[in-house]
Amino acid sequence: MNNEKLFVFFGATGNLFTEKIFPAFYHIISRRKIDNFRILAIGRRFGDVQSYKSFLRQSLSNKIPHLDFSALDRLFHKTNYYQGDVDDPQPLIAFLADYQLTNYQEILFYLSTLPSIYTRVLQLIERINEHIPLNIPKKIIIEKPFGFDKKSFILLNQLFSKLTPERNIYYVDHYLGKDTVQNIIVLKAENWFIENLLSAGYVKEIHIVVSEREGVGTRGQFYEETGAIRDIFQNHLLQLLSLIAMDIPPLCQEDKIECSSFLNSMQQKKIEVIQNLKLPTAKQVFLGQYQSYTQEISNPFSKTETLVCLPLYVSSKRWSGVPFWIMTGKKLAQKISYIEIIFHSTTPNENRLIIEIQPEEKIDLVIQVKIPGMGLSSSPVHLNFNSLGTFGINSPEAYENILVDCYRGDKTLFPNSQFILHSWEIVDKLRDLIYKEQVQVEKYIDNHYHAEEFINLKK
Ligand SMILES: NC(=O)c1ccc[n+]([C@@H]2O[C@H](COP(=O)([O-])OP(=O)(O)OC[C@H]3O[C@@H](n4cnc5c(N)ncnc54)[C@H](OP(=O)(O)O)[C@@H]3O)[C@@H](O)[C@H]2O)c1
Repeated sequence: MNNEKLFVFFGATGNLFTEKIFPAFYHIISRRKIDNFRILAIGRRFGDVQSYKSFLRQSLSNKIPHLDFSALDRLFHKTNYYQGDVDDPQPLIAFLADYQLTNYQEILFYLSTLPSIYTRVLQLIERINEHIPLNIPKKIIIEKPFGFDKKSFILLNQLFSKLTPERNIYYVDHYLGKDTVQNIIVLKAENWFIENLLSAGYVKEIHIVVSEREGVGTRGQFYEETGAIRDIFQNHLLQLLSLIAMDIPPLCQEDKIECSSFLNSMQQKKIEVIQNLKLPTAKQVFLGQYQSYTQEISNPFSKTETLVCLPLYVSSKRWSGVPFWIMTGKKLAQKISYIEIIFHSTTPNENRLIIEIQPEEKIDLVIQVKIPGMGLSSSPVHLNFNSLGTFGINSPEAYENILVDCYRGDKTLFPNSQFILHSWEIVDKLRDLIYKEQVQVEKYIDNHYHAEEFINLKK
């Protein structure tokens, strides 16, 4: 056995792998973060490894202007490709059975493929498992959506638990891989005054926004089954809310990978938040659909929401009465994701703490200062942090963090099944409310409105 770990990617010709995962591996290799791994890429589109690699080379050079070709060669040296169809599993199983999986220290199966084939991929992994000795650890890494409701998630989770214990299952929410989102943890844990300010006594309201300029593009069929509530609300938005609202446990002093006590308490604290979430009345829920959506997906009758905006409440003493405005929409005026904490104020100028997640990753504290020579007149100023300005380096891409953490076995950034289960409970309740109270999906003009306009409309 060598000391390498093997990543096996299902869906290695798809958008996620080529746009996010492979570029992340390139940065991992060029920054020498980890080296002892191999990649087995599985897809249908390319007949051989040469044409697959030239496709990867092309898409990487479109993305990264000054490629380090020696790093790329090192990465290619680690990468193999197999043309396989999950709907025709026998050749794929035979190929993998011969792949000398026993030579590896660990096998990481990564489902970077369509949710509609997850079950078949898992059945295939079950068959391959027969060829891997029990002493070789196996991990399963899966991309959202994790089911479509609570019931389907439970079924999916049962399939996983047949293959490996929960500690080896990695549910990827790539927002949690972003440095600024992880900074929420540090901001709260290492700045005790901020953790204390984040409570009903000081906070008037919180806005959590994922605003996109793009529409559904070619993902129309997928989106019709999903909509904004399942696509963004169930995962990214509820994750961000729980990170902001949770009682932060103290960080461990040792390296975070060894600190299972922090991981366990953080997971527990996040679950406490999500278990205590309260939905608003139907009147406060806004559902929208951008004007060109039905044309884009060629279905004039579609009622799928491309925008959702509503306040959620956390039933706890800490957050009593504070609305967490949750808002996401496609084809809005601006592409931006942020959390804005608005503090109670004695003047019309509010103090705010803004954590911008994209396109820029930065933290802004807005305070009032005196204008020079103008008596006691004040003006808002931004005390801000961004990684490049302060540390001279950009934050790593989310998938760099995710891949390295999967490799190392650090689960701090991955939701556990209990959290996902509770998040589906909220989604199921919200969908019931929408259905029973007949909340209508209203049209909005493409690329015209800002997220805050919808929040103000419902306040
Ligand atoms: N794209 C993103 O930025 C993004 C971000 C977050 C999460 N995700 C999630 O990641 C997953 C993949 O998304 P994606 O955008 O990469 O989708 P995609 O571009 O449609 O890619 C799907 C991949 O699955 C492969 N595939 C489909 N049917 C197959 C079969 N029967 N046998 C073997 N391979 C098969 C395709 O192979 P061929 O094309 O070669 O046929 C392709 O490689 C989804 O769950 C999505 O929700 C995506």
